[in-house]
Amino acid sequence: MHVHRYERLWIWIGTITMMVFFAVLLVVSFGQGLAAPNHVQTIDPAKISSTPPFDHPGLRKLSDGTYEAYYVGQVFSWNPQSITVPVGSTVHFYVTASDVVHGFLLPGTDVNLEVMPGWVSTATQHFDTPGEYLIVCNQYCGAGHQNMFAKVEVK
Ligand code: CUA
Repeated sequence: MHVHRYERLWIWIGTITMMVFFAVLLVVSFGQGLAAPNHVQTIDPAKISSTPPFDHPGLRKLSDGTYEAYYVGQVFSWNPQSITVPVGSTVHFYVTASDVVHGFLLPGTDVNLEVMPGWVSTATQHFDTPGEYLIVCNQYCGAGHQNMFAKVEVK
């Protein structure tokens, strides 16, 4: 079978490009340990209000400069509405939902979680810059979706 040389060239370009992408994927996932968020914790969405620590959502201090923040999403709000941490703090976020799928996004940071009933999504963020950080829901969850926000104050 005769394959035109330009056709052959494009087959090689496509094949090499795929091999490069695959090599990048291997280096990033195994070499740098980068992986999609894994949902290691589960929770019964019907029993959130009686399951510690989500029965009392909010901020917990682990040590100086290190905090855990537990959030519950429900149409159309986050609990807690607001947390305050000192500049230089590291916050481990644990987020779950009691009703439908929500999104937990802190614009300008690396925190961007899909929040599903039955699962606890986690992310860690270091806050070096003082200010008010908005938390918005970035998964359409119903008629009041645009009103679903909270804030992190860093001061
Ligand atoms: Cu919650 Cu959109």
